[in-house]
Amino acid sequence: RIAGPCNVVIFGVTGDLSRRKVLPAVYDLANRGLLPPGFSLIGFARRDWTDEDFANLVHESVTSSARTPYREEVWQQLKEGLRFVRGTFEDDAAFHKLATTLKDLDRDRGTGGNTAFYLSIPPSDFPIVLEQLSKNGLAKPTDSPAGQPGPWRRVVIEKPFGHDLNSAQELNALVNTVFPERSVFRIDHYLGKETVQNILALRFANQLWDPIWNANYVDHVQITMAEDIGLGGRAGYYDGIGAARDVIQNHLLQLLALTAMEEPVSFQPKQLQIEKIKVLSATKLVAPLDETTARGQYTAGWQGSEPVVGLLQEEGFDPNSRTETYAAITLSVATRRWAGVPFYLRTGKRLGRRVTEIAVVFKRAPHLPFDQTMTEELGQNALVIRVQPDEGITMRFGSKVPGSSMEVRDVNMDFSYGEAFTEDSPEAYERLILDVLLGVPSLFPVNEEVELSWRILDPALAHWAETGKPDPYEAGGWGPESADEMLARSGREWRRP
Ligand code: BG6
Repeated sequence: RIAGPCNVVIFGVTGDLSRRKVLPAVYDLANRGLLPPGFSLIGFARRDWTDEDFANLVHESVTSSARTPYREEVWQQLKEGLRFVRGTFEDDAAFHKLATTLKDLDRDRGTGGNTAFYLSIPPSDFPIVLEQLSKNGLAKPTDSPAGQPGPWRRVVIEKPFGHDLNSAQELNALVNTVFPERSVFRIDHYLGKETVQNILALRFANQLWDPIWNANYVDHVQITMAEDIGLGGRAGYYDGIGAARDVIQNHLLQLLALTAMEEPVSFQPKQLQIEKIKVLSATKLVAPLDETTARGQYTAGWQGSEPVVGLLQEEGFDPNSRTETYAAITLSVATRRWAGVPFYLRTGKRLGRRVTEIAVVFKRAPHLPFDQTMTEELGQNALVIRVQPDEGITMRFGSKVPGSSMEVRDVNMDFSYGEAFTEDSPEAYERLILDVLLGVPSLFPVNEEVELSWRILDPALAHWAETGKPDPYEAGGWGPESADEMLARSGREWRRP
């Protein structure tokens, strides 16, 4: 579907996220013909720039990061709708200017009063920007003819949505004083990934899995998001935030919700929310936290053939920083389906390789009619959903080794997106921005989901605040020893992807 006439205003347009993800995604949408002809994009920032300077920034982002090929005619059309408004968030005059710019665009380019405000800014700036939008009449469409479905105003918020339950509640309350919940689109870009949406297709379009998708057959679930990159250049955002707030509170708990939830009555956004909220309400940390959680901080090491520094030597980090770059937790889901099945979640920077996967690990067969020496290399059956890279699904099971003996060993059966489909999948931001413009909220967590996720994580954050420094682990490895010990206590081990 093509978006209807509209404007997008980006606050924080000169920031890293906007340049690497948001602006290229807008161009990709234009290139795929999914934006309306009069589409207009307004950048709001402090720099003393003209529209032309702003167009140069957008052009540079497009040529360096867009996914689709560069086409001059698409660029020229997009460029006609680019405007820049200069100002600080405190500056009333700048917001007046924004209001008149939007009015002019509505008149000249037919954008119809429909506007999405994209807050690519730190949460500490939310109050002032929201206040300005409200004060200047920008948050509420004012000009819809009586009796007609009016023009829309929406707000797009980037994480972090708070830093604990209390602050998230305050933030949500604040946002909701200016925009009704149905106009709020919180970005969790993992939900825009094809492979993440495929969890629902895998589970609910097939007969194969559901009968074994429960505590009778599943031993445990491991959700891993490992990254090889370090945190150079990101101190401003990351120091004091850490891996659990950055990734577990949002991306990993959303993956858990999709893996563990019950079948929704339909794929209507409301129905999906109901099921996610239900399963998140039943999810909690397993105690005692000193045995069931782990956190770490990378030290110097090797990434491939490159020597890399530790976190404390990265530019901008406090040399005594206690920020964790690795976090692992154990969760239980108190439902009939999942009673007694641990869900292990882990994430880290500077790990052995970049991989995000969900591994559903099954119980061992209750009886093996083989000589024990014949099954030494037989592990537990597993279904592994590879979110990235090398997107696909792997089923792991035992198979006879060719030869005269009945030796059994693990093998993999593989489905790969790249091989099965020729269609190019849109980048997560592309999909999500289009959904904002279309007003489709299914892939955006609502306030209750965000708050439930903090409610789940808060006790671990409080526990770690008391225990002090995270455990060191060498860059290029697989995290601190304490994380291995955490699983070893129940006789399990982490998968080495
Ligand atoms: C972001 C985190 O949400 O996701 C980053 O803030 C992380 O720290 C990034 O690097 C990873 O995204 P992706 O899509 O590359 O897995």
